[in-house]
Amino acid sequence: MTRQTIIAPSVLSANFSRLGEEVEAVAGAGADWIHLDVMDGHFVPNITFGPPVVKAIRGRTDKVFDCHLMIAPADPYIAAFADAGCDIITVHAEAGPHLDRSLQAIKALGKRAGVSLNPATPEGVIEYVLDRLDLILLMTVNPGFGGQAFIPAVLEKIRRVRAMVGDRPIDIQVDGGIAPETAGAVAAAGANVLVAGSAVFRGGTAEAYRSNMDALRQAAQDGLREAA
Ligand code: DX5
Ligand code: ZN
Repeated sequence: MTRQTIIAPSVLSANFSRLGEEVEAVAGAGADWIHLDVMDGHFVPNITFGPPVVKAIRGRTDKVFDCHLMIAPADPYIAAFADAGCDIITVHAEAGPHLDRSLQAIKALGKRAGVSLNPATPEGVIEYVLDRLDLILLMTVNPGFGGQAFIPAVLEKIRRVRAMVGDRPIDIQVDGGIAPETAGAVAAAGANVLVAGSAVFRGGTAEAYRSNMDALRQAAQDGLREAA
């Protein structure tokens, strides 16, 4: 299978004092999407940024803004993130009681809808919303912080979700601990979108970002080839 791997750097590991320049640099260095981690200090034990910051950096690139909402409740804020310029809006299945309604709200705003599952959440919770989904984000760490260790038990969930999705045009994304050491295994299991924070932004220069992303792509291709 020659699925093209999408690389989505998480700006959580960027230098926040120069966020606009960092987004430009990583976009110019070959990022496919820009992954935006929104945290509320309630659903996850950390706080990041909200719609005004997304809006402030929106003009820096035309790349897809991939917005990962780690907030509860999410529904009251979906329209604000859409207005701020997010292209994909992903909510956590654990963050609210009405996942189907949240996905309908995202689609009604003309945005791509994603659902994220924490490492301990079984994939069965998305069985009846599959036809509303553009993206499934399988967390490979417990959400809240960059730089955590990859949780290998999620590999089996990736395989199961890939099978559930069948031939639907749904992206399968992984997030957390993705580096050249883990990218091959997640790609082989069926993930086609890799989020990476520390593994992309280490080095702190556009040249480093390019070679870091090249290494991720290469590792994913190697994993796919070995699995074929
Ligand atoms: C974790 C965030 C991730 C995080 C990944 O809660 O959702 O996007 O930035 O960071 P790394 O790639 O360093 O594990
Ligand atoms: Zn994320």
